[in-house]
Amino acid sequence: MTISQHSTLSAFAQDVVDGLSQSPRQLSSKWFYDDRGSELFKRIMASPEYYLTNAEAEIYRNAAASLLAHTGGQPFDLIELGAGDGTKTQLLIERFLAAGARFAYRPIDLSGRALSDLGKLIKLRWPKLDFNPIQADYFQALDRLGASTGSRLRLVLFPGANIGNFSPAEGVAMLQSVRKFLRPGDLLLTGFDLKKDPAVVLAAYNDAAGLTAAFNLNLLARINGELGGDFVLDCWRHWESYNPVSGAARSFLLPIKPQTVTLSKPGQTFRFRAWEPIEVEISQKYSLREIEGMADAAGYAFVHNYCDAREWFTDSLWRVPNP
Ligand code: AVJ
Repeated sequence: MTISQHSTLSAFAQDVVDGLSQSPRQLSSKWFYDDRGSELFKRIMASPEYYLTNAEAEIYRNAAASLLAHTGGQPFDLIELGAGDGTKTQLLIERFLAAGARFAYRPIDLSGRALSDLGKLIKLRWPKLDFNPIQADYFQALDRLGASTGSRLRLVLFPGANIGNFSPAEGVAMLQSVRKFLRPGDLLLTGFDLKKDPAVVLAAYNDAAGLTAAFNLNLLARINGELGGDFVLDCWRHWESYNPVSGAARSFLLPIKPQTVTLSKPGQTFRFRAWEPIEVEISQKYSLREIEGMADAAGYAFVHNYCDAREWFTDSLWRVPNP
């Protein structure tokens, strides 16, 4: 076992033990993405109910020319927070290159595997594109970039409504931290899922094929596998809620009868009452006005909300103002 695997394992164990000891109990959605979880997430993105991915692809196709205009024709670094789903970003890259833009593509991800898979795709498609990934967490990488990219303009992408996994207050704090690594004039494009018909939201997180349920239950399977847990998966149910006032879509896992669960690696036992929920994910939805307010609260100048035709999703462009 390498040192980094070891420290990841203990961070996971620590986080699980802390979360299951709280009231209400919690598990962080950041642990969803082991190999099986990543595979399930790909299938969710391809499911008919999960509208977010297609909406953002539509936006990227239509917004490319306008985004480029906002760079003012200067060379820039296209920095992506997460290598995740390279296919959407390729829609932008394709259009930027066709328009003769000069830029380097610098995806940031913790997973070396995700970056090298993406690198293979990019090299095959655009052998001459300056592809320069960074394997690190977002803030370490942005810190390193600050030192290495000289005075080039930066266009930072934070796609996929990943910001939705933070509460609104945490989301502002996260985007504020990103800003500290940027310079006046730099651009940030963040994908936000929008408030809409609650039935549409609920269906996206409770698909008929059961992919979302399997995705959430996989977290318990991961705990069993990596932390020596004995969750009986058949006894747990996925439940989705959506509050149209706050815009919070939340996922829960609940046991259909009392459960005693032991995690042999950290050596901890947890007793659950029947139907005692574990909170596993928030997928926050926003209004366009709330997003403009967030830009301000996080210290950016709001530039534009690029929306899909149904106004179900937006990629919001903000600029770092002069001090
Ligand atoms: C990757 C965080 C954007 O919240 O919509 C999809 C994850 N969870 N289905 C989301 C997810 C359940 C997704 N994000």
